[in-house]
Amino acid sequence: MCGIVGYVGNGASIEVLMSGLSRLEYRGYDSAGVAVIDENGTLRSRKRAGKLAVLAHDLEVAPLPASHVGIGHTRWATHGAPNDENAHPHLGDEGRLALIHNGIIENFAPLKQELLDQGYTFLSETDSEVAAVLLGREYRETGDLQSAFRAVVRRLEGAFTLLAVHQDQPDVVVGARRNSPLVIGLGEGENFLGSDVAAFIEYTRSALAIGQDQIVTIGADRVDVTDFEGNPVTVEPFEVEWDASASEKGGWPSFMAKEITEQPDAVANTIRGRVTEDGLVVIPELDGLDEFFADIDRIVVVAAGTASYAGQVGKYALEKWARIPVDVELSHEFRYRDPVLTARTLVVSISQSGETMDTLMAVKYAREAGAKTLSICNTQGATIPRESDAVVYTHAGPEVAVASTKAFVAQITATYLLALHIARLRGTVPAAELSEFAAELAAIPAKIVEVLEQKDTITQLAQWMSDSRAVLFLGRNVGFPIALEGALKLKELAYIHAEGFAAGELKHGPIALIEPGQPVFVIVPSPRGSATLHSKVVSNIQEIRARGAKVIAIAEAGDAAVLPFTDVVIHIPLAAPMFEPLLAVIPLQIFAMELSNAKGLDVDQPRNLAKSVTVE
Ligand code: F6R
Repeated sequence: MCGIVGYVGNGASIEVLMSGLSRLEYRGYDSAGVAVIDENGTLRSRKRAGKLAVLAHDLEVAPLPASHVGIGHTRWATHGAPNDENAHPHLGDEGRLALIHNGIIENFAPLKQELLDQGYTFLSETDSEVAAVLLGREYRETGDLQSAFRAVVRRLEGAFTLLAVHQDQPDVVVGARRNSPLVIGLGEGENFLGSDVAAFIEYTRSALAIGQDQIVTIGADRVDVTDFEGNPVTVEPFEVEWDASASEKGGWPSFMAKEITEQPDAVANTIRGRVTEDGLVVIPELDGLDEFFADIDRIVVVAAGTASYAGQVGKYALEKWARIPVDVELSHEFRYRDPVLTARTLVVSISQSGETMDTLMAVKYAREAGAKTLSICNTQGATIPRESDAVVYTHAGPEVAVASTKAFVAQITATYLLALHIARLRGTVPAAELSEFAAELAAIPAKIVEVLEQKDTITQLAQWMSDSRAVLFLGRNVGFPIALEGALKLKELAYIHAEGFAAGELKHGPIALIEPGQPVFVIVPSPRGSATLHSKVVSNIQEIRARGAKVIAIAEAGDAAVLPFTDVVIHIPLAAPMFEPLLAVIPLQIFAMELSNAKGLDVDQPRNLAKSVTVE
């Protein structure tokens, strides 16, 4: 939420900032702005409501003077409407300094009152401008940007990443972070700051991860990091695995179209290097942690949105193979209800961004309560894995479309791998079976390719259904979380009311929603997994069909039992029943994307949303 970029170097700062912002736009797209110190040492700023293209056009028509130092911001509004005034940067010290912010300053109201009482004025309704004005006041007193930053961060409550430039210190950008992301990119004669590595991967893949409560100063040839008291601290270097082209559209009509197609690779890359020659799952990052898993008696998965549905699929695998009870909790509910946690509880967080504030807070809470923590994450250098005892990375590559697709299948894959890893350690599944599962999992990417080949049929279906007012999704067992995910994708991409239900729940209420013509997607479990479960879902289909529902079934190839009772059947290849979610979700993603396209909507940047939700 809110993309932040900072630059000092020999390059043209506007170019670097705009390129960084274009890669960060998925974090927020209500408004955007930049501030630079020009070659005469004067602060220049420009900001506009609307998507980044509005600002880009404005800068093309009336360019800012050449500069080599600057900051840029793309906003997801929290305080104040998305208009020009509320866009960042905000100015302080009578227009000599500019500041950008990501997060929420919880005590902004009393601080604003304090500043108003002292005669300071404000131009926006944002919490962020308070930090800019406060920084200006502190700069006046200290004459030094770093000391002023220290004074400011001591006064702020909440979550923040702040970056600022001051025309009296024209060679540096200063930043600070608490509970909000910030990483450093190291170049030759230039350095970068960004909300995530996407901000600078076009220029460098050498990065430093800044810890909690730290202040960073970058110049063209220097990087200094201190804690909030001003003591120097060492920071962790890492090489960014993603390359710049991975976060480009590359000829696809949308990032979503590209990312849906990349799912075979997302799964294959997440498995790669984690299956031994004798076919057992051994996750190298968990080397030396056998003891860590030895005495756990319960797993709690914490995650939000799509990631939580990955956790729900993972529950089936972890319980079945590792024989450990699993609860899946929405991370934002978790810490507010005094959950029972012990030293034998393993809290597994799942997060694509590794920055989702709700999930981060759940992890911190779990650690403080003495539980063990393990993060499943797609983003190197992100906060959640750094706050966790252990990490299993997913290797989906950068996900740019706001709604998650390839990260979801990679997350599910990682939960399967974790379950097989723990099952091996605890001896809960015979080795021969473990290696069969690993081999079947490795066969999934090729099967996803087969599902993707049905894109045209699904596109046609989406076009026929583009005037639907509500769509229901039913699933059972591992198909249930996929029904929830299908509904979420349709809501967020096509703005259509959609609900996912456990098929068994139908008769307990939701069947009242069925009226003639109501479209219902049904994820039919494989009869090879459980004939009983399969026949129960086929009965559910008959029940809704009898009441006029239009049934679209997702069933495995050769499942003839569903044919007489369905309007459309989308076949998925045969797979081990536990792995069906990785196949069944693909048609639902394509359907939501194509329905969004049919309605002429922006599939990559749905309204009101932002990727990486860094406020609670
Ligand atoms: C939906 C979607 C969101 C995210 C959720 C968690 O398509 O993308 O529901 O799954 O906001 O995000 P991460 O995984 O970054 O923690």
